[in-house]
Amino acid sequence: MSSTTLNETYNDKVVRQFAAATVIWGIVGMLVGVIIAAQLYWPEMTDGIAWLGYGRLRPLHTNGMIFAFGGSVLFATSLYVVQRTCHVRLISDRLASFVFWGWQAAMVGAAITLPLGITQSKEYAELEWPLDILVTVVWVAYGWLFFGTIVKRRVKHIYVANWFYGAYVIAVALLHIVNNLVMPAGLWKSYPVYSGAVDAMAQWWYGHNGVAFLLTVGYLAMMYYFVPKQVQRPIYSYRLSIVHFWALISIYMWAGPHHLLYTSLPDWVQSVGMVFSLILLAPSWGGAMNGILTLSGVWYKLRTDPILKFLIVSLSFYMIATFEGPMLSIKTVNSLSHYTDWTVGHVHAGTLGWVAMISIGSLYALYPRVLGLQQMYSVKWIDAHFWLHTIGVVFYIASMWIAGVMQGLMWRATGDDGTLTYTFVESVAATYPYYLFRFLGGVMVLSGMLLMAWNVIRTYGMTDRIVPVAVPAPAHG
Ligand code: HEM
Ligand code: HEM
Repeated sequence: MSSTTLNETYNDKVVRQFAAATVIWGIVGMLVGVIIAAQLYWPEMTDGIAWLGYGRLRPLHTNGMIFAFGGSVLFATSLYVVQRTCHVRLISDRLASFVFWGWQAAMVGAAITLPLGITQSKEYAELEWPLDILVTVVWVAYGWLFFGTIVKRRVKHIYVANWFYGAYVIAVALLHIVNNLVMPAGLWKSYPVYSGAVDAMAQWWYGHNGVAFLLTVGYLAMMYYFVPKQVQRPIYSYRLSIVHFWALISIYMWAGPHHLLYTSLPDWVQSVGMVFSLILLAPSWGGAMNGILTLSGVWYKLRTDPILKFLIVSLSFYMIATFEGPMLSIKTVNSLSHYTDWTVGHVHAGTLGWVAMISIGSLYALYPRVLGLQQMYSVKWIDAHFWLHTIGVVFYIASMWIAGVMQGLMWRATGDDGTLTYTFVESVAATYPYYLFRFLGGVMVLSGMLLMAWNVIRTYGMTDRIVPVAVPAPAHG
């Protein structure tokens, strides 16, 4: 805990900025998640206050979590990893600073416009065109910074984590631009250039690949860097990581139609989506096993290292979500699950279990290093955070699974004369206890995040004695 030098060889300022933004947006996004979870249990909670209505806060939650929290941690870790693995400083400090402030401006814009009801009404692409343009400019700058640094690298080899980060940077740019092509009809109003089923297909090509490339490929990059680092062993199989990369990249793009089963999309397109989703199980599990088996021979480390617990348990949730996803894409299963809370349970196995846990684990690993310290202020608090988060996620997803299957079965139950056995409102009433459990799970997860913030603040407090020095970059290796 007593390092007295701060390594200024790399641009760690931007990493620290994005890491802090991740914790702050994490708290904001999860707080809004807890509020909307409460609204589903106490529906009159914010009656009469338009900007606090469920329909306004829900996109605030999803955008806050995916782009503000999820985006910030991807910026923080990718800019940290690319410098370390390429043995070179980012190509421009100014550009790095622009990327940070530009992204935060876009996120603050989202946090203001969404509660005001300004929206494109496309899920996960709600932001109106002026903010979309800002996001595009910042993203191009980010791509320039990331790939420019790779070009300038001092080692020949490009470590696999950078392949995953690179693919996510390119794919997200493509998705964002194609799905947000609109005709402006005023400063805060626009119409999509697509219509009907084509619009729906463009939207879910975007929606699904947003999950694939932003919420998965970027985080797999984190896995490939932070798991071996924390275990202090090389990745289980480098060859498998290459197969993993190419398989995911080539299969993911075709699975989007599984979001539009039983719609007016041509039937064969729906079947293509289903088949590619089923195939996805193999590379997803292969990749996750590559991370988990890195622990071969040193499993005992899991007992004592809470950061490793975060990283490895996140991979277990990833395996749960990527087993469940292909299953949900089977048309007959989807006819039961669609519109129910089962989908919401699946989403949070992926986002809260996989995305949030690997992010939190990576941040705990990264923070002391960018502050010139050996470890966080309190390792015990990391352990407490791990248990709060894990139990919270289990509360969340288990209650939504049960509620979802129950809803699906109630909606399709018919009597001998063919009439429905239950009214819709009966299914809503039956769901209430599960919403309470989900709310409690959310409160646990949020409390863990607050504990993390306090740990980070105390860790900053330990840096008083540190003197910044310039350390030469490592030589080729
Ligand atoms: C404290 C933790 C969290 C709580 C309490 C929470 C709660 C909620 C609630 C109540 C909904 C609305 C469900 C519905 O409309 O029926 C929701 C949706 C959603 N949340 Fe969360 N959430 C949390 C964390 C996260 C995280 C960390 C992410 C992403 C990284 C995330 C991403 C999403 C997404 C993508 C949806 C939309 C799901 C869909 O359309 O099927 N959430 N969340
Ligand atoms: C092999 C991998 C996966 C497959 C094949 C898959 C498949 C599916 C399917 C079939 C649905 C339900 C569509 C519907 O009925 O509307 C769905 C919804 C969803 N999944 Fe996955 N999933 C996978 C992994 C993941 C992961 C890892 C995450 C998060 C990190 C995730 C996030 C989501 C979200 C956010 C939705 C809700 C979209 C919406 O309707 O708003 N999925 N997924």
